[in-house]
Amino acid sequence: MRRKLAAGNWKMNGTSESLAEIDTLIKEHAEAGCDMLICPPATLIHRMADAAKDTNLAVGGQDCHAETSGAHTGDISAVMLRDAGASHVITGHSERRVDHGERDETVRAKTLAAIEAGLTAIVCVGESLKEREASNTLDIIAGQLSGSIPDTVTGQNLVVAYEPIWAIGTGKVPTLDQIGEVHDYMRSRLERRFGAGVARSVRLLYGGSVKAGNAAEIFGVSNVDGALVGGASLKAADFGPIVAALSASS
Ligand code: 13P
Repeated sequence: MRRKLAAGNWKMNGTSESLAEIDTLIKEHAEAGCDMLICPPATLIHRMADAAKDTNLAVGGQDCHAETSGAHTGDISAVMLRDAGASHVITGHSERRVDHGERDETVRAKTLAAIEAGLTAIVCVGESLKEREASNTLDIIAGQLSGSIPDTVTGQNLVVAYEPIWAIGTGKVPTLDQIGEVHDYMRSRLERRFGAGVARSVRLLYGGSVKAGNAAEIFGVSNVDGALVGGASLKAADFGPIVAALSASS
């Protein structure tokens, strides 16, 4: 069955001294009953991957370019992430979709590049507050899933994260019923497109204001296989209890 995944997205946070957080996490959660992943800024991937070698912590990128190499100043390819020691990469995070105008086609091309480079892609989807208030959530999710996920995925190289934009960094969290509705719907959409075998092995994460205090109840919702955590992943003291709650729910 699906092994649960506690993933941290450090976003544009962290310098050399933040690596101490990883040492603590590895030390305190060596026996975690779930997978652990941290996606630090690109500047820390290599060193973090070295520090996490032969441990139960995986390291990922936060974005990649769709091409392997070329004249794209400032960008990083999936092959480069892999070379630096990453095993995962986030694609289509709402902060990329909004800040950088990334559309579904771009996210799909990046996700394909990630898979071809041997990475697991964590494809993010999620509605805005306006879309939720207009009762368009499931349509938005359906469109993002079909537009952002390439045809060649498997249960091993795809993870999907549901991150309602209005819940990110706001302290607002959907109700457990709302989370369950979207996760059940995502599973059924994946089943319809890829068949039950693939769809049932893809891990579905919830992201948006996950904290130690709400993690256990969120992990009790059907089809929630873990979390993609922003702010509360920066410190081992905050992320550790989330890892523990997920392990306990496994
Ligand atoms: P917060 O946990 O800070 O709300 O961020 C969620 C997120 O965007 C993870 O990718």
